[in-house]
Amino acid sequence: MGYGPGASLKLWTDFLPTSEISFVEYDADCAEKHRKSIEEKGRGKLYVGDQSNVTFLNRIIEDQGGRVFDVIIDDGGHTMEQQKTTMSHLWQLVAPGGIFVMEDLLTSYMPGYGGGPKGHPGTMIEMHKQMLDGLHCQFQDNCVPVLEGLLDMDCFSEACVMVKQPAA
Ligand SMILES: C[S@@+](CC[C@H](N)C(=O)[O-])C[C@H]1O[C@@H](n2cnc3c(N)ncnc32)[C@H](O)[C@@H]1O
Repeated sequence: MGYGPGASLKLWTDFLPTSEISFVEYDADCAEKHRKSIEEKGRGKLYVGDQSNVTFLNRIIEDQGGRVFDVIIDDGGHTMEQQKTTMSHLWQLVAPGGIFVMEDLLTSYMPGYGGGPKGHPGTMIEMHKQMLDGLHCQFQDNCVPVLEGLLDMDCFSEACVMVKQPAA
């Protein structure tokens, strides 16, 4: 952000003082300037790249070497493409029983982010409605869930939390 690393660096590292917290950032200059403090405070990794770039997301997955996250939060650029690519692709990095939080769903209604009026095709909100359908696949023919292994979803104003099924 304009004042340096975003407020979430302080919030999450204060709130979860023993957790390992990694960050993804697009702004390479800002990221490199603050890399040391981000990695020290977070005890995790800082990945610099575009959350809508599948090659970049694959590099994160590869770098984790089979490790998964209890929590992934998308509070990035908030365009439809960025949100949809990130969720579809990083869902595999959520641990069994873990959660994926999608913030700022209000952009689904903003043309500047690829959103539009209610029912606008291809928005993140529409994808969430499909996920809700996917939670009821057993009652439908030819149902393919949007997220494999989705156990539950909890939505609030502007944000939804997707919960992955725990290990058997
Ligand atoms: C609303 S800020 C939130 C920052 C941080 N999550 C926080 O709460 O402090 C959005 C951040 O997403 C980054 N961003 C924008 N487009 C991005 C992209 N395509 N890939 C990754 N990050 C992006 C911005 O540079 C900015 O730092």
